[in-house]
Amino acid sequence: MIETWEQLEAEVSKCKKCKLSENRTNTVLGVGNRQADIMFIGEGPGADEDREGVPFVGKAGKLMNQALIGLGINRDELYIANVVKCRPPGNRNPETDEANACIDYLRAQVMLVKPKIIVLLGSVALKNILGEEYGITTSRGKWIEKKGIMYIATWHPAALLRDEAKKIDFWNDLKEVIKKGKDL
Ligand code: URA
Ligand code: SF4
Repeated sequence: MIETWEQLEAEVSKCKKCKLSENRTNTVLGVGNRQADIMFIGEGPGADEDREGVPFVGKAGKLMNQALIGLGINRDELYIANVVKCRPPGNRNPETDEANACIDYLRAQVMLVKPKIIVLLGSVALKNILGEEYGITTSRGKWIEKKGIMYIATWHPAALLRDEAKKIDFWNDLKEVIKKGKDL
């Protein structure tokens, strides 16, 4: 049972619980305010994140940053993490055994941060956090309350790079997050 940030950092940095440990350069635990009310959860590190050890620093992250700036969301108000802490080869989705091996670290992060709102970025985050029965197309933009936490799923920022039309949804979903944040 992980109860402190120190313990979590130590365990993740040397973790070999799944095969993603074999090709990683750095583990990518998370970044941001550890007391934030709002937590963002992505899928897993890409090449840039693997190199730097920090989530969402590559192309998708830069696009997400632009949206956050545009909406007036301060990065200090957020904590950002991923389902898996090591890069899946070629940026494939994490496999079930990998996500299952890693999910306790994310649970520990949620327990330590105690966010009021969790934004699930894309299908991998949605399914691993709320359950396989959820689909991103039908669930995105809707609030789901579980154990005192308000969850909302939206498109993964990488999907916005492939499909411009999704940017409007992403923007609107983040506006909902700001609104909800003010109500809490
Ligand atoms: N995509 C993710 O899901 N997470 C990152 O940290 C970077 C890209
Ligand atoms: Fe450990 Fe998670 Fe990395 Fe797998 S992805 S080696 S479970 S930290």
